Amino acid sequence: MTELDPITEFREDHRKARDGLLDIIEALKAKDVVRAREILGNLNILLGPHFKYEEETLYPTLKVFLGEYVDQLIEEHDGVIETALICAELLKKDTLTDEEAEQAAHAARALLVHVSNCDGLAILSERLSSQELKELGVKFAAARETGVSLLDWAEKIRKK
Ligand SMILES: [Fe+2]
Repeated sequence: MTELDPITEFREDHRKARDGLLDIIEALKAKDVVRAREILGNLNILLGPHFKYEEETLYPTLKVFLGEYVDQLIEEHDGVIETALICAELLKKDTLTDEEAEQAAHAARALLVHVSNCDGLAILSERLSSQELKELGVKFAAARETGVSLLDWAEKIRKK
């Protein structure tokens, strides 16, 4: 059974998401839609397993600390998915008006706020037992093995 360090890998995903979103904002400034689209495509692949792991495993596990606030995290994901979709739709175009580029950059900044918020869960995860962390590591690895993208997962698998 594959197992990974759930806190290290969780934070590593956030670093990649942070860098990707900042690069998208830069690409939009330079009016390079193709580059922005390519980076968003990579993030879509990276973050499918991450979201799946969070909603199916991490959030339920953190309920011991967060109680009903876990529902708030799920709601935050609703907004993130919606924003990612808006961004993906805009980036399907070959050229963007100044206004559309700003809308896409605005979406990327909103996603960046979520990355920053989500990383805070690492500090709570540190209080879990080594057995719980081990189980998180197994589930995180299993989520990665599915290889499902964020938007596919949101559309086809995510239960509401
Ligand atoms: Fe996250």
